[in-house]
Amino acid sequence: MEATLLVTGGAGFIGCNFVRVALAETGARIVVLDKLTYAGSLANLEDVAADSRFHFVKGDIADAELVRKVIREFRPSAVVNFAAESHVDRSIEGPAAFIETNVVGAWVVLESARNYWSDLPSMEKDSFRFLQISTDEVYGSLGESGAFTELTPMAPNSPYSASKAAADHFARAYHKTYGLPTIVTNCSNNYGPYQFPEKLIPLIILNCLDGKPLPIYGDGGNVRDWLFVEDHCLGLLTVLERGRVGESYNLGGRCERRNLEIVDLVCSVVEEYFPAARNPSMAKGGMKEYAQLKTYVEDRPGHDRRYAIDPTKVECELSWRPSLTLEEGMRKTIGWYLDHQGWCEQVSTEYRRERLGLVDG
Ligand code: NAD
Ligand code: DAU
Repeated sequence: MEATLLVTGGAGFIGCNFVRVALAETGARIVVLDKLTYAGSLANLEDVAADSRFHFVKGDIADAELVRKVIREFRPSAVVNFAAESHVDRSIEGPAAFIETNVVGAWVVLESARNYWSDLPSMEKDSFRFLQISTDEVYGSLGESGAFTELTPMAPNSPYSASKAAADHFARAYHKTYGLPTIVTNCSNNYGPYQFPEKLIPLIILNCLDGKPLPIYGDGGNVRDWLFVEDHCLGLLTVLERGRVGESYNLGGRCERRNLEIVDLVCSVVEEYFPAARNPSMAKGGMKEYAQLKTYVEDRPGHDRRYAIDPTKVECELSWRPSLTLEEGMRKTIGWYLDHQGWCEQVSTEYRRERLGLVDG
């Protein structure tokens, strides 16, 4: 029997890319369970909706009855838990949804998977996997040097990263205590098609196109480690197929950049595709170069200074490496956003690229 993957949060940025990669690279049936929050959209899955191996269920991972029902009905051979509130700035404005989904919801999915898994025949029980998708932000902030390994102690600094750290601990505990075959992946910053425009790279692309200010938090010297989303998804399939249960794996592109470098790269690639001189929105504001739109704004509260992933474990154990350079990935990404401006409008009904996550007083 072919595998069935239950993909929670599969209508979001990384989830929908994973669905595409998994349909292309495996013969598995894919069942997406997604609440369709502001960050999730069926528009992200339009091109796979007609595939006979694809199924969609709308619902909340914190709804225990529903999750149990979906698991009993589709009998997955693996659960991949992407579902989460994912934006740090929103977690500063209102942590409650982060606790509900990232902590309680993740626990509900683990507990439902455990109940189902414990009754499976032994061969299916052995091959079952629960993959918890997590982030490098659980490790906190680095100084000028060094990188996060799987042994780095967790030290989350935002409500978002604290909620993700809690779920990582539950996934580990469910393996140690009940034997559920869980694996956790901690990945660095993803970019690519279908990323919601609240995140740095799509926000900068769209603001360039509209001739709007490019907001740079603080001094722009914060460092992130960037990975093209499809490379992340291929890494996740590798971990799912060959990773050791009870382990965690750091995934990252060995691609550290300061935020200012990212903004400059976006400006220069947008210029290649759509020169500022031909952009009416730029002419309207009297701007000649996209870089002139750069604007320093108040810093994010608790802003982590630097993230860097040491991916040695996944490279040596599972031979996974990203295939694209940042420049290649950025060209693909910017090309995609230029071709999908209708998608950006469609998913941004309630969000107008306003500043989020400042604390009063
Ligand atoms: P996203 O915000 O784009 O998508 C999240 C998806 O989860 C959406 O489709 C949303 O509708 C769904 N969802 C939210 N709450 C839900 C609930 N209660 N029940 C069911 N579905 C719900 O996020 P993303 O950037 O695709 O991130 C996916 C996962 O990867 C998250 O767990 C995140 O922590 C992790 N991650 C993200 C990055 C990154 O750079 N984006 C890096 C490392 C790890
Ligand atoms: O490291 C992995 C994490 O990467 C994921 O777990 C999160 O889900 C994902 O959102 C991302 O978190 P960041 O906070 O790093 O991403 P964001 O795009 O919000 O910000 C990237 C950097 O850019 C960060 O240093 C803040 C800065 N920034 C962000 C925005 C939105 C700006 O300078 N200006 C902005 O307008």
